[in-house]
Amino acid sequence: MMKIHGDFRQLRVAVLVSGGGTNLQALIDRAAQGDWSATIVAVASDRDGAYGLVRAEKAGIPAHVVDYGSLLKGGFGAGSWEPSSAELKELDSAQKILRITDEHARLHRLKRLVMAEHQLITLLDPHEPDLVCLAGFMRLVSPYFLRHYNGDGGWRVLNIHPALLPAFPGEHGYEDTLGYGCRWGGVTVHFVDEGEDTGPIIAQAVYPIWPDDTLERVRRRGLSLEYSVYAQCIQWIADGQVQVTGTPSRRTTTIKDPRYPEVLRGWTHRALASEPPL
Ligand code: GRF
Repeated sequence: MMKIHGDFRQLRVAVLVSGGGTNLQALIDRAAQGDWSATIVAVASDRDGAYGLVRAEKAGIPAHVVDYGSLLKGGFGAGSWEPSSAELKELDSAQKILRITDEHARLHRLKRLVMAEHQLITLLDPHEPDLVCLAGFMRLVSPYFLRHYNGDGGWRVLNIHPALLPAFPGEHGYEDTLGYGCRWGGVTVHFVDEGEDTGPIIAQAVYPIWPDDTLERVRRRGLSLEYSVYAQCIQWIADGQVQVTGTPSRRTTTIKDPRYPEVLRGWTHRALASEPPL
């Protein structure tokens, strides 16, 4: 059993976005309340034009862009850092995100991803983040990035997912939940591991899906939960109340906060009350 982040008083958080950044906004608003044990020290996006960057700038938070789109196609300047072939092979043996069967093509893709991540790390590191929070960051994260931030055995990269994992991993959590005919949907905050949406779950919250619900209503209900759950998970980490437990093949977490049942009840009550059945 390892205890994480027990020493932090004010966590330094970097947030990664790709789009509108309403989760980022919720974290910015939470920080502005002044009673949250985290400070957003940097925001970065994989593409220029993400509205999350504007939100960061408006809040006076340094905002960075690494143009993954062109970098993955090969747009690196001469003399850019690149992993050695031994390092690349080792990263490939650890990763579970790229399933391209042709080894040459897979290594090529992984190399470009790692080079883009190297640029991202170079931009984030001067801000000395304790945590990196993915908030609608639509890129896979390789073991290169994870090892950089996790060091030896830490868990410092988080993600928010719009479904009740392990159901509906991938990019379309709300669509998949509604399309499957689920009666309840959910959101998940988890630590990021070498797979896609497979890391240790920190917290989940559920919302009802009413008859004749629309995707727009479901997404709105879910997003409003996302905002609370993400901020609370970061608070728990700052307070040293998240322990990563389990076995090497299935890491789990334990929340030590005695108020946990109360927090969970609050999320569920709010989700049930938000929009009554039509
Ligand atoms: C959220 O639903 C989040 O769970 C998912 O992407 C969406 C991002 O929304 N990973 P926003 O950019 O925070 O508004």
